[in-house]
Amino acid sequence: MPAVDPKQRVSALHEQLNYHNYRYHVLDDPVVSDAEYDALMRELRALEQAHPELITPDSPTQRVGGAATERFAKLRHPVPMLSLGNAFDEAGVYAWRERVARLLGDDAPIAFVVEPKIDGLAIALTYEHGQLVRGATRGDGETGEDVTANLRTIPSIPLALQAPKPENQAPGSDSAGSQPSALGSIPTSIEVRGEVYMRTADFDQLNQRLAAAGEKIAANPRNAAAGSLRQKDPAITASRPLRFFAYAVGPFEGVALHSQWATLQLFRQLGLPVNPDARRFDDFEQALAYSREWMERRDQLAYEVDGIVFKVDSLAQQRELGVVGRDPRWALAYKFPARETTSKLLDISVNVGRTGVITPGAIIEPVNLGGVTVRNASLHNADYIAERDIRIGDYVTVKRAGDVIPYIIGPIVDRRDGSERPWAMPERCPACGTPLERAEGEVAYRCPNFGICPAQLVRRVEHFVSRGAMDIVGIGEKQAQLLVERGLINDLADLYTLTAEPFAGMEGFGEKKIANLLAGIAAAQARPLARLIVGLGIRFVGEVAAQALAAAFGSLDALMQASAEQIDDVEGIGPVVAASVAQFFSLEANRALVHKLKQVGVHTAQHVAVERQGDELAGQSFVITGTLPTLAREQAEQLIKAHGGKVAGSVSKKTSYVVAGEAAGSKLARARELNVPVLDEAGLRALIGAAPTPPADPGQITLDL
Ligand code: IVH
Repeated sequence: MPAVDPKQRVSALHEQLNYHNYRYHVLDDPVVSDAEYDALMRELRALEQAHPELITPDSPTQRVGGAATERFAKLRHPVPMLSLGNAFDEAGVYAWRERVARLLGDDAPIAFVVEPKIDGLAIALTYEHGQLVRGATRGDGETGEDVTANLRTIPSIPLALQAPKPENQAPGSDSAGSQPSALGSIPTSIEVRGEVYMRTADFDQLNQRLAAAGEKIAANPRNAAAGSLRQKDPAITASRPLRFFAYAVGPFEGVALHSQWATLQLFRQLGLPVNPDARRFDDFEQALAYSREWMERRDQLAYEVDGIVFKVDSLAQQRELGVVGRDPRWALAYKFPARETTSKLLDISVNVGRTGVITPGAIIEPVNLGGVTVRNASLHNADYIAERDIRIGDYVTVKRAGDVIPYIIGPIVDRRDGSERPWAMPERCPACGTPLERAEGEVAYRCPNFGICPAQLVRRVEHFVSRGAMDIVGIGEKQAQLLVERGLINDLADLYTLTAEPFAGMEGFGEKKIANLLAGIAAAQARPLARLIVGLGIRFVGEVAAQALAAAFGSLDALMQASAEQIDDVEGIGPVVAASVAQFFSLEANRALVHKLKQVGVHTAQHVAVERQGDELAGQSFVITGTLPTLAREQAEQLIKAHGGKVAGSVSKKTSYVVAGEAAGSKLARARELNVPVLDEAGLRALIGAAPTPPADPGQITLDL
């Protein structure tokens, strides 16, 4: 076999990795598994290490690079980055459209593009000969900051543009009324403008991560995106879940563009992410109808949207209309009604979390916020309250964004009458009276009485029995509270020694309830080690880390003996997690807990590892729901994994199959909604037995329940 030319191989790997990155981050529709992607990436890294001369700036390995900067250089925008005039109701939108029609002459046909107004921050990317050479923030519109190194870390921003091919078009790009697009080659030079943003769920997770690490959290996804992009160290930006949508073109050369719609098409073909909900309309009334539809859907979106942007489609008409001040006459932001209101802060409660973190919460006069009655709102942490000088009795601004818990923005100082009282974090834990501690540099106060404080124990029990952990049915928040309050349990292991007697006569515990509860606990004795590790509630240890730890150490005993360094050596475990695990097991109370768990019969060693038996299900992702006739859920999971498949917890359009049994609920409904094929247990077995990948005729094994 002739030796492969490294240069050729590197270039082939670039192409493949760029393509898979695009499928994953831009189209949200990957065609290879993470493992396959990682293998390609490893191969490229190894080749680059052996041949450093082959490293190019657009190599997929070069996203995070460069040293931290002290300050960002200023960049002047060759063409100013404009802002948008606003309308707050339909009358305002009509008025805008009237003016546009008047200025263009009443007979001119005008087409409109309607796009969601993403709540993030505007940036400009310059591509020269297809290579990303520069990226800047909007700044004041005239001058922004050079954040190229940070923008390069955002996976949905291509380092190199793709040559336009029709099949690169994203789904949903061929809506009615589309015009022929600017097919051809990569523009010699083009400035792509768009929004960097963060999805609501990613934002929540990031805040949880930051809060757990005792760091400052962001007030909303927009601030989180802005803060993440302005990090001095690109490695930090890389760790933040930032995304990008392209929506406008700056100066360009070497391509003909005549409309906004064609611009969006070209962006798609170049491999840039374009919002799939953008639409073009020849008729203004239809455009307005679409914006109404949008208002309704606002909450179902994965990201925050603060309005709808109307744009005149034709670039010639845009030029004709021109700009007043900073606002182009050819575009308009139709703002959604705000999700903000005011209420009175009645009191501040303190809640003790599972790891002892104390969080203050606002109790407010009930108020309607976007159709929901709000009584409680987040205050984040003590610093947040102090920095904003929020006092009990203050009138405060409350905001609700998407599904995020409502939070207090700040006080309305002008409404104070002198009766307001400043608030201070209590000195002692409200549950156990232990003096609170605050670690150096951390925002969070903690109750250090770990493992004993009853409030922490309640939260630990709740966590231990939750679905991602030991999955014990019959115990929820209320039961956990009761068990601890009545002194029936003093630690997690006590759950396994519970008997029926002490429950007798207790409110809410009928005979059947008790039997179910005890059966649920007994059934959860032999959960896989990873779930038990999750259940212990070690800081920073979620499902993924727990799985890595279980696979590497095989038992709680072995994990407990390991040093932070040994834990850090485990693939997929970083130093923060390693230190946290080691710290957890350094506490005598936790070591005693492990010992006791073993004594009461909890399996603290790994089940036999899943042995790979075949590849029939490689690249396919499954969701299991309901009760299967012969396989327990874990067995079904193991079977799928043993044949190369993946098992996920929720149904998305990426799910290959839903395996449904008796009493399947919302997941089955969701599968139908998304047209995901549904199998029963026999169907799953057939998939493995018959081994067609993908099944030659899904109709044969698909069962519509
Ligand atoms: S167009 C006229 N399109 O809104 C060119 N802007 O208030 C102005 N924005 O700074 C930009 N989604 O940060 C445009 N689809 C969209 C947008 C959008 C969000 C933001 C952008 C801009 C601000 C103007």
